[in-house]
Amino acid sequence: MKEQSQRRQDAATATVIVGTQFGDEGKGKLVDFLSARYDVVVRYQGGANAGHTICFDDKTVVLHLVPSGIFHEGCICVIGNGVVIDPTALLEEIKQVEALGYDVKDRLFISHNAHLIMPYHKLLDSLNENAQNAKKIGTTGRGIGPSYEDKFARKGIRVVDLLHPEILAEKIRENLDAKNKLITSVYDTEAVDVEKIVEEYSEFDAIINPYVKNTQLWLNRQIQQGKSVLLEGAQGCLLDVDHGTYPYVTSSNPTSGGASTGSGIAPNYIGNVIGVCKAYMTRVGNGAFPTELFDATGEDLGRIGHEFGATTGRRRRCGWLDLVALRYSLTINGVTEIALTKLDVLDAFDEVKICTSYKLDGREIKDFPTDDQTLSRVEPVYTTLKGWMVSNAEARSFGELHPATRAFIEFIETDTGVPVNCISVGPGRDETVFR
Ligand code: GTP
Repeated sequence: MKEQSQRRQDAATATVIVGTQFGDEGKGKLVDFLSARYDVVVRYQGGANAGHTICFDDKTVVLHLVPSGIFHEGCICVIGNGVVIDPTALLEEIKQVEALGYDVKDRLFISHNAHLIMPYHKLLDSLNENAQNAKKIGTTGRGIGPSYEDKFARKGIRVVDLLHPEILAEKIRENLDAKNKLITSVYDTEAVDVEKIVEEYSEFDAIINPYVKNTQLWLNRQIQQGKSVLLEGAQGCLLDVDHGTYPYVTSSNPTSGGASTGSGIAPNYIGNVIGVCKAYMTRVGNGAFPTELFDATGEDLGRIGHEFGATTGRRRRCGWLDLVALRYSLTINGVTEIALTKLDVLDAFDEVKICTSYKLDGREIKDFPTDDQTLSRVEPVYTTLKGWMVSNAEARSFGELHPATRAFIEFIETDTGVPVNCISVGPGRDETVFR
């Protein structure tokens, strides 16, 4: 017993990358950069609603489902059981990767337990969102939420079902029996053609088969054999269905705990948690956002930072860095080191603000309230730091950063007690400072 637990501690080689804010922290660049050093890269939650943007060799590629490690030969990529997969979107993405000259054969595996996004999930997603009017969650309409709903209602259709066409057909028919009633009577919309979906999805059997694996067991065994594993989270901690600003959240667990359930990797194999934090904040969709700026500074952050969704093209709300939210995220995720991104976006500001606490009903609070009602009533308390007004794009070591930039980073480290070990000073792979 003792020997086994010792072995697990020694072999703790899995690293998790999580977003510490509302997503879009620039995790894609870091994952892409780090995946060159890992044997296996895993996606563990979400679906094609996340969009990692990777820039390399003068190319910009947006990946929604396939881990960005696919662009590093020798790196094996896994779509874990916690992800919900739209098979059409996945196959298109595989084609896109292959068109860029990268072979995915024996380098991409999909968990047989991952749930599928069916055409009726997408339809229900948009019907439901449109019916919400003012209370829109801001979903991407890709069927992610309804697919997770079916998963937890134990009605979901999984990747493994694609390999058994008869069972698949039966499950689709059962699902649509109930869902078509809802679609026609509640939403007053035309019923979904059951047999068309059965036919379409039956064809995935042979195409998807080479990628399907019991990735849960396989991943644990890879770690036991000394292989290094990187788990990449999509979205961010504040959008976590359990730990985020509910109900304005995503339907899965982007936090580091979700990395274990969403991949099957035993939690004690996870040794390191890298928290990706943008040098300012953005949020897509509705929900409280204490440091949101409604002025020219907010506009400037959005314009300079190109704050438009990679998946939806939607404009992101922008504001100053919020350390109350960050401290919360670091705790919930057990972050061992911070990766600070998009620092260059602050180059143009003569002063930069950081929120260190909130005021609530005239009282100062230091802890992040996760209920939207309370969070929407807090006022941010700021510390103002001097801006640096120069580009740090050429810096490759901490000492080469402008002194005011270093002061900004050191302020974050002192306040949170977590080291900032990676600093991104531009979108390119090489525009990065490691300490
Ligand atoms: P989600 O998983 O959906 O949350 O996405 P993400 O965290 O991977 O963020 P995304 O891929 O949308 O990245 C945001 C954008 O920031 C991309 O266009 C990146 O190229 C860009 N980016 C990343 N790091 C930097 C940086 O340091 N500076 C600048 N200017 N852009 C960056």
